Amino acid sequence: MKIAVLISGRGTNLQSLIDAAAAEELGAEIALVVSNVPDAPGLERAAKAGIPTETIDHRDFEGREPFEEALHSALSGRSIELVCLAGFMRLLTGGFVGKWRDRLINIHPSILPAFKGLHTHERAIEAGVRFSGCTVHFVTPEMDDGPIIAQAAVPVLQGDTPGDLAARILAEEHKLYPLAVRLIAEGRAKVAGNKVEISGTAEAPSPVVNPAG
Ligand code: GRF
Repeated sequence: MKIAVLISGRGTNLQSLIDAAAAEELGAEIALVVSNVPDAPGLERAAKAGIPTETIDHRDFEGREPFEEALHSALSGRSIELVCLAGFMRLLTGGFVGKWRDRLINIHPSILPAFKGLHTHERAIEAGVRFSGCTVHFVTPEMDDGPIIAQAAVPVLQGDTPGDLAARILAEEHKLYPLAVRLIAEGRAKVAGNKVEISGTAEAPSPVVNPAG
């Protein structure tokens, strides 16, 4: 399966996908990395791995549709089958999302549907939740919405700063995104209505309690 990764910034999730592909654990080939930010550090990561890159700067376009047309033709031009948003900081219109329906996924640093949007870690700490985490989901026109493929939970600890929590979650993101891509590439994750059906999983994970006692 040919995948594209869309980034806007540092690209650590991109790196986790690059590493998984190099270890032959992704079940997919990263055929293109697109950034809407010309100097995104993630572009360097892709170049180092020998992956073709394109910068499509949204500021060069009059409005979202022309930007998305350029994006769509870059993706179609490389026969991309799955698009992975990885810290891609542009909202996509319903038109674009519709064209890539069930072939467009995103990673978000919370256990959706809790804490959609920005500043998730501050808000999780503020809310006093005992767990937060990350979600990989198919993209629908609503922000941080859509059928959930995989989630990881981490404890929120006493005295955590947003940075502490972000780092704990990011380490899980780096395992979760390659897993989710592999499930799709292997045909084991299928959208069924507003949910995703996963086939052939190992035994169910154990429940976790925080505080531990
Ligand atoms: C990650 O926390 C991801 O969940 C969110 O944006 C951040 C991107 O980080 N959507 P990176 O660019 O992959 O390092």
